[in-house]
Amino acid sequence: MVGLTSELLERMRGSPREHLAPVDSAEYLRRAYGEAKRAAEIVDRLLDYVRERTRVLETVDVRQVVVEAVALVSPAAARRGTQITLTSDDTPTLVRADAIMLRQVVLNLVNNALDAVVEQSGGVEIRTRLERGAIGPGRVIVTVRDTGCGIPAEHLPHVFDLFFTTKEAGRGVGLGLAVCQSLIEQHGGAIQVQSRGVGQGTTVEFELPAES
Ligand SMILES: Nc1ncnc2c1ncn2[C@@H]1O[C@H](COP(=O)(O)OP(=O)(O)OP(=O)(O)O)[C@@H](O)[C@H]1O
Ligand SMILES: [Mg+2]
Repeated sequence: MVGLTSELLERMRGSPREHLAPVDSAEYLRRAYGEAKRAAEIVDRLLDYVRERTRVLETVDVRQVVVEAVALVSPAAARRGTQITLTSDDTPTLVRADAIMLRQVVLNLVNNALDAVVEQSGGVEIRTRLERGAIGPGRVIVTVRDTGCGIPAEHLPHVFDLFFTTKEAGRGVGLGLAVCQSLIEQHGGAIQVQSRGVGQGTTVEFELPAES
């Protein structure tokens, strides 16, 4: 963005012969605008991670949150031929949570799964269930399983690191899982990633205390 706009400024200062054709100037501006928007999105997401946004706690059915999050990405998934399957028991899966934060968690996980199954005839399965505890109300557990590219063992310890990404510049920043971990822990829950290795798919599971 700095490069593109400084180049434009230089040429505007120079002799008219050095000026870019209007169509090229517009292209420079369009690309600088695109980069500025991308930077703004990254800063926004980063702030989600570092800023303890005030949580608006309400009784939330996690199943419903999953349905809403999947509705946002399923058109894109369908266009790419990736099937997203939802399963859940009949028991309610209620937690005290900020629904918007929870939806962000599910979105990040589903987007990772979709990135992983691209160019393969794979799928994504999301399961929501209540696990009753011997004491207390138990836990609500969400499992996002994909049949995608998997994660090599040496990467597994780093996937929650801020800015750890294996995706090309412009496609991944390495914020998704760090944000998920931060949000889940703010809700008193836990999240873990498992993969048997490259080509073996990935399973991400998070749990939250069930509402008492
Ligand atoms: N379902 C998955 N399958 C395979 N690899 C995964 C999966 N989820 C995460 N990873 C690996 O963990 C890395 C970090 O994931 P994370 O969501 O934090 O960042 P990102 O997806 O690269 O970028 P961002 O989410 O910020 O757009 C990914 O780059 C990828 O290498
Ligand atoms: Mg991600």
